[in-house]
Amino acid sequence: MPAVNQSELTQETAAKQALMRVEDVHKYYELGETRVHALRGVSVDIQHGEFVAIMGASGSGKSTFMNMLGCLDRPSSGRYLLEGVDVSKQDKKALARIRNQKVGFVFQGFNLLARTTALENTELPTLYTRIDKAERRNRAAEALAMVGLSDLARHFPSQMSGGQQQRVAIARALVNRPSILLADEPTGNLDSRTSVEIMEILQNLNDGELTIVLVTHEHDISQFAKRVLIFRDGRIRKDEPLLNRPRATQVLRTLPTIED
Ligand SMILES: Nc1ncnc2c1ncn2[C@@H]1O[C@H](COP(=O)(O)OP(=O)(O)OP(=O)(O)O)[C@@H](O)[C@H]1O
Ligand SMILES: [Mg+2]
Repeated sequence: MPAVNQSELTQETAAKQALMRVEDVHKYYELGETRVHALRGVSVDIQHGEFVAIMGASGSGKSTFMNMLGCLDRPSSGRYLLEGVDVSKQDKKALARIRNQKVGFVFQGFNLLARTTALENTELPTLYTRIDKAERRNRAAEALAMVGLSDLARHFPSQMSGGQQQRVAIARALVNRPSILLADEPTGNLDSRTSVEIMEILQNLNDGELTIVLVTHEHDISQFAKRVLIFRDGRIRKDEPLLNRPRATQVLRTLPTIED
């Protein structure tokens, strides 16, 4: 019998099981003469079905980390495994393919096309897939329904509130049925009630097993997640589970509705 190192075996199994595994990742940006060391040895596992909030001061590496998780960028050193596949070794074309299939992005600005309806905005990412036209429409309608916006399918962004526009952006992120949703300050431009409404949608999607990683500057918003990572100077300084987190649906009942 060949000698098998038990701890290596266990590590391999863990790597296969983790949806996202980050191993001692460093990221450098070259800016002319200077070199910015944005990530300084980050290691973390994120499992299927988690809802992780990332907090930390401006410049601490949160967006750099998210961009790597979403295959927008590669680590300078260390490894990033997405569903067991070593993303650090993929070329740009392969990264784009993985990203389109597995990851949905939501940002602070909604980035919707102005002269395009909610339904068409939602449908956009399907144009880069092989799905036929009728099915693309179906999927866009289904994604809009998931964020509770079926009634506004034919509205243009200028005819919608900020919260509604962000919901369209979430629908657009979901339309290719990703396994991961990455949201970088999705409530940064929204008032507090609307922010909690967005968190309600994210909690509901996470109940449906979508894995979510969310960057936020607001402590109250981070509390809706299941786990919080705190970044400082390119490292994870704190990693803790949130027990007894509030349900956004219940919090909304306690908040006044805005009169129009
Ligand atoms: N494309 C880039 N080129 C050069 N430096 C960059 C680039 N992107 C980020 N940086 C630098 O890397 C460090 C980490 O930036 P990052 O955007 O990840 O921070 P952040 O935690 O998301 O901050 P914020 O809360 O302000 O969004 C910063 O020092 C930043 O200036
Ligand atoms: Mg950022």
